Amino acid sequence: MHKVVLITGAAHRIGRETAKVFAEDGWNVIIHFNSSLKAAAELAAEFNAKRSGSACIIQADLDIDADVERLVSESKEVYGRIDALINNASSFYSTPLPDISYEDWDKLIGSNLKGPLFITKGLTPMLEEAKGSVINITDINIDKGLPGFSIYSAAKGGLKAITKVLAKELAPNIRVNAVAPGAILEPPGKSWSEEELAKIVSKIPLNRIGDESDIANTVKFIVDSKYITGQTINVDGGRSLA
Ligand SMILES: NC(=O)c1ccc[n+]([C@@H]2O[C@H](COP(=O)([O-])OP(=O)(O)OC[C@H]3O[C@@H](n4cnc5c(N)ncnc54)[C@H](OP(=O)(O)O)[C@@H]3O)[C@@H](O)[C@H]2O)c1
Repeated sequence: MHKVVLITGAAHRIGRETAKVFAEDGWNVIIHFNSSLKAAAELAAEFNAKRSGSACIIQADLDIDADVERLVSESKEVYGRIDALINNASSFYSTPLPDISYEDWDKLIGSNLKGPLFITKGLTPMLEEAKGSVINITDINIDKGLPGFSIYSAAKGGLKAITKVLAKELAPNIRVNAVAPGAILEPPGKSWSEEELAKIVSKIPLNRIGDESDIANTVKFIVDSKYITGQTINVDGGRSLA
């Protein structure tokens, strides 16, 4: 019986690479997406070409409660088991205090905190049965205070906090951990200038930005490590030491 992972926001970038790492290890992969239907379908086709029936796609906007509920019920249906949940989907944009709106709050909290919490709630019985694992993807910057990002930081900080709470609540059968990336990829739609990149790299002891595989391999390592729970692992080339 193949193990099953649900990865949110898996059509592109870090989520996509994480999906590949699980697929290569023989897992069945539920690829969640919101707007990236084409990319999600192509990724599933790639996995299914290698092993028929090994991947499927499910659309859901995590800002919408009914979509979250549907994502949970459809995920449970597909393979009849869930061994790992990777809460990776995230909206990310700045909200300087004078400009913040209730709409921004809902958007940033939906995908980064509320969605992950309620998906975890919905999948708890199946994760329990599988003695499974939840990985929440947070961000090293929440510990530093990132000016202009109060709502995003509240959401990711909340996700880090509930990682510890749920690790206790869901023990001993479900492990809950977080992976906090440092500088991995430019934010969607933005490109760093050479000067910006050099400034970022100058603050990283390992002297380079990370790549998607640094996060994906850490996620897989934690899922496979049966005696780790309640932890946030910073994957940032040492940036958070500075
Ligand atoms: N990239 C970095 O350097 C970095 C640094 C620190 C932390 N992180 C964290 O690492 C994770 C992956 O980063 P990334 O840069 O690869 O992510 P990303 O490309 O910014 O976003 C991943 C996916 O999230 C989905 N998403 C956004 N809003 C959504 C919503 N309302 N409902 C459902 N899905 C939604 C999008 O899906 P669709 O495309 O299908 O719409 C998107 O493809 C995120 O949690 C991010 O916060 C990344």
